Formats: sequence, C-alpha cells, structure tokens
Amino acid sequence: MNLNKTLKTRASIRNYSNKKPKYDKIIDAIEAANLAPSPGNLPILKFIIIEDEEKIGKITQACQQPFIKKAQVLVVVCSDSKRTNIMYDKRADKYIKQHAGAAIENFLLKITDMKLASCWVGAFSDITIKNTLKIPDEIEVEAVLPIAYPHKTDKTKQKSKPNLGNIIFFETWNNKYKKPIRKTGTH
Ligand SMILES: Cc1cc2nc3c(=O)[nH]c(=O)nc-3n(C[C@H](O)[C@H](O)[C@H](O)COP(=O)(O)O)c2cc1C
Repeated sequence: MNLNKTLKTRASIRNYSNKKPKYDKIIDAIEAANLAPSPGNLPILKFIIIEDEEKIGKITQACQQPFIKKAQVLVVVCSDSKRTNIMYDKRADKYIKQHAGAAIENFLLKITDMKLASCWVGAFSDITIKNTLKIPDEIEVEAVLPIAYPHKTDKTKQKSKPNLGNIIFFETWNNKYKKPIRKTGTH
C-alpha cells in the first residue's frame, strides 16, 4: 500500500477472525512503533506481547471491552518516565504522551499496511493490567493494542474526520481566511 492509501484505510477494527497473526508481523508492527520520533531520542516505551489466553481474558476484563478477547495477540504499550523526567522536568509528561501517540499511530499504520486489524484501546483499569503482567509501579500503561486478522464479514471503514475548513487557521487563532498571495514585481 502507498502511504496515502494506508492513512485513509486505517480504521479501528473490533471484529476479528480466528486466524492468528505470525510472529514476524507482530515484530514488524513493534518495529514501526519504535521508529517514531521521541524527545531527546530517549528510549521510553516497552511493548509486552501477550499470547496467553488467560492473560488476554484478564486484560479484556480490565478494559471491559469484550471484542479484545477475540484477538489471539495483544501488545501492551508501557512507558518508563525516569530519564524523560530528569531531562525535561515539567514538560516530561506531555512529551511521553506525545511520543506514545506517535508510536501507536506508526504501529496502527503498519498493521493496516500488512492487512491486519487492530484498535487503539486506552480505557482500562491500570491496576488490573499491572497486576496481571507484573508491571512495576513506576511504569505507566499507555495502551492495549490487539493484533488480529479482520473477520471475513468485517466491512469497517474509517470514521469520517473533521472538515479541513474547520480545523485550519491562518496566522492567528480562529482565522479561517487566507489572505490572497501578493504578487511581486507588478506595479
Ligand atoms: C487515546 C485513544 C483511546 C482510545 N480508546 C479506545 C478504547 O478504549 N476502545 C475502543 O474501542 N476504541 C478506542 N479508541 C479508538 C477510537 O474510538 C477511534 O479511533 C475513533 O472512534 C475513530 O475511529 P477510527 O480509528 O476508525 O478512525 C481510542 C482512540 C484513542 C486515540
């Protein structure tokens, strides 16, 4: 797929087939996430691959989102803020969230490119996931990302997005009108 097609095809898919994705595809998706820009190029994120059915069940419960159980592989994205806090102090939290978002989007685009299915899951009980996966207190859980093949009946399309005319401003906040470009050299 070319980039434009991948961007426009990516969608949150919650309806999965029973076919398990091969291990190299899981690693390819994590590699894509790892290519994202990061503040000071610090290594902030860790990715826990879960294939164990019982753990997938517990994480599904922690998220209270039954569709997750249908995936045979989950990737739990975690962040370690220690070095970012030292380097960036008050800006660290914002930077870590921005980096996690960039990495997760890379992951989802690679998943789309490989014709797999996923969904960014950000709503969960942190404590239940941490207990299930033995994640230390100082580590933050950023997202749960199922990896699966879409169910053969799945026709999910990306949701419609805001109109560009409503989200682009020119020069100052809320100014939606671009001044005509002044031609030079004509008097
Ligand atoms: C930070 C964040 C958290 C999200 N959490 C969930 C979630 O817990 N469960 C879920 O089904 N989708 C979740 N989503 C996916 C959004 O619902 C989805 O991206 C949105 O509806 C737009 O649909 P699209 O991804 O198909 O374009 C989350 C997305 C983001 C960016």
